Amino acid sequence: MRTPIIAGNWKMNKTVDDACDLVSKLRESLAPYSTVERVVCPPATSLLPVSAILDESPIGLGAQNMHWEEKGAYTGELSPAMVKEFCGYVILGHSERREYFAETDQTVNKKVKAALNIGLTPIFCIGETLEQNEAGKTEEVLTRQIKFGLEGLSEEEAAKIVVAYEPIWAIGTGKAATSEDANNVIGGAVRGNLKKLFGNTVAESIRILYGGSVKPGNAVEYFGMSDIDGALVGGAALKVDDFTAIVKAAAG
Ligand code: 13P
Repeated sequence: MRTPIIAGNWKMNKTVDDACDLVSKLRESLAPYSTVERVVCPPATSLLPVSAILDESPIGLGAQNMHWEEKGAYTGELSPAMVKEFCGYVILGHSERREYFAETDQTVNKKVKAALNIGLTPIFCIGETLEQNEAGKTEEVLTRQIKFGLEGLSEEEAAKIVVAYEPIWAIGTGKAATSEDANNVIGGAVRGNLKKLFGNTVAESIRILYGGSVKPGNAVEYFGMSDIDGALVGGAALKVDDFTAIVKAAAG
């Protein structure tokens, strides 16, 4: 049995005051759903104050990105150790990072390794564009992202990652993938490639999330699916009631 995870990716939203307000409320509202691993990923400026609010709470904290180098002349970046001071998780390879900040499978691979080395759980994001989807290239794209993004990981390391399948055409568009389609891709191309690389036992143990326009109204459909182990939530993670309803749906 894989423990479901619901992670909120706040993206570039919320000042420190707003982030603290939201997390204080989530700390209460998410408390009953202990069968679900609950994670919030606010902007970097809020990691320290939010970590104080979440002290002794089971809600996990994640960063949205980090650099792979230990330290040095990398203006604007956060090192793995800086993230580890406050967080247990880090989102890596999000499609927005790949699209707007020139991240590649190779740089994402370095980040995944750096996260594992320091004891952070990487939430490793993959997904195809609308164009690739319509051209029937979804499997090919995901195969490449998984092969190169996770290259060089041992089976033991691979067992520690969380994968988020986020079709780019479903992100922030309100056009979510159907639960059947998402489950077919996740059970097929995603878990199938993980099996090829790391064997059946490890691949069956890895949590794979769906992301892309997950809302309270559609969440329950995904969590009934055999291969979907939770969600990476964007817009709906910014509202207490919506995020709580999604966590509740995952708790069953
Ligand atoms: P939305 O839930 O806003 O579509 O965003 C999904 C996402 O990109 C989470 O990382």
